[in-house]
Amino acid sequence: METFVHMNPTKLIFGKGTLTRLAEELKPFGRKVLVVYGGGSIKRNGVYDGVMEQLRRAGNELFEMGGVEPNPRLTTVHKGVGICKREGIDFLLAVGGGSVIDCAKAIAVGAVYEGDVWDIITKKLYAPGALPYGAVLTLAATGSEMNAASVITNWETREKNGWWAHFNHPKFSILDPSFTCTVPLDQTINGIVDIMTHILEQYFHHTSNVPVQDSFCEALLRTVIKTAPKLVRNLEDYESRETILYAGTMALNGTLAMGAPGDWATHNIEHAVSAMYDVAHGAGLAVLYPCWMEHVLDEGAAKFKQMAVEVFGVDAAGRSDRETAMAGIRALREFWTSIGAPGRLADFGIGDESFEAMADKAMARGPFGTMKTLRREDVLAIYKLAM
Ligand code: NZQ
Ligand code: ZN
Repeated sequence: METFVHMNPTKLIFGKGTLTRLAEELKPFGRKVLVVYGGGSIKRNGVYDGVMEQLRRAGNELFEMGGVEPNPRLTTVHKGVGICKREGIDFLLAVGGGSVIDCAKAIAVGAVYEGDVWDIITKKLYAPGALPYGAVLTLAATGSEMNAASVITNWETREKNGWWAHFNHPKFSILDPSFTCTVPLDQTINGIVDIMTHILEQYFHHTSNVPVQDSFCEALLRTVIKTAPKLVRNLEDYESRETILYAGTMALNGTLAMGAPGDWATHNIEHAVSAMYDVAHGAGLAVLYPCWMEHVLDEGAAKFKQMAVEVFGVDAAGRSDRETAMAGIRALREFWTSIGAPGRLADFGIGDESFEAMADKAMARGPFGTMKTLRREDVLAIYKLAM
């Protein structure tokens, strides 16, 4: 195990009916609240009305900014920063999925910075501070509700950048599983894939003596694999929504990251795809993750074999490590196909004409990955496997 420091200050409020706590939670944070939301799903499923009722009860002065895109854009962050500076906003409330929360995180740091928030998103500068913000989550996927990371796209330059600031966690996050019951089938599947890859990114590394961490990862993966088919058959199954929502938060709130550096190469490779083609993050991962595993099989065989046996119940008897690992990769791919996830870049209309440009974007910050250090030729090979 490697040395580590862990802190997660987000107050997690989980369960049916917990939105009624919102007014109380807002009390310490000042009067002027900017509510940030997406393209309108919260107005259709009643979450917006519930939130507004709470805010009025708390006596807050309300400002609103809807229209945050999936794969949120820098222009929308700029708009939010403008509102915060003009109106003297005290607190941001993100109501939506990962995109809305990520956008609020960027607005929060941009609001207290004199220059362009893109400096912080591109890591030219570490965020000097932030407005406080909270979240009401409506989609199980990213873990953004309990971490300090955010991913923003500059659509003009086709750059999608992940960034974080250690102090920039939500002050609180309210997670009512019933709010996720209206998430459509495709986004539900994308969320399940995203959650599983977050676990895998932290499970695959070369650090030894991490049996507790490995067991956490395996238990979470087995639980998601058991629950997901039931959920995609019945999108309103409350208990499955509850399980997946909790799994999604636990997958990326720092718990699994203790004691070993994760890989995260495939996330970087996927971000280059969605930067250019605006594909949903989870859908891109479903295509790319097994291809990354195949490409790094020599370096990853032992851990991939462990996944095959412990998560998918592959029988290793009479097989080499490599063969068992390959059976695990096939099982992962088959599972995602069975719940309806895409399998090839061609499913998004992406051909090899843009592989060079996507590889350049993925390489923008130099070689990456811990299972195997990936260079430009590796990234190109992974895109080719995913064609
Ligand atoms: O915009 P609205 O109308 O709200 O609709 C959204 C959107 O169209 C809809 N939706 C959300 N909740 C719903 C709902 N529809 C019906 N009922 C509900 N209850 O779903 C669509 C997708 O929403 P989005 O927020 O984009 O999805 P997700 O949560 O998967 O977030 C994806 C973004 O997060 C980034 C991704 O790269 C992508 O930009 N990530 C953020 C991470 C983080 N902060 O830690 C880590 C991840 O690896 C990821 O990179
Ligand atoms: Zn992800």
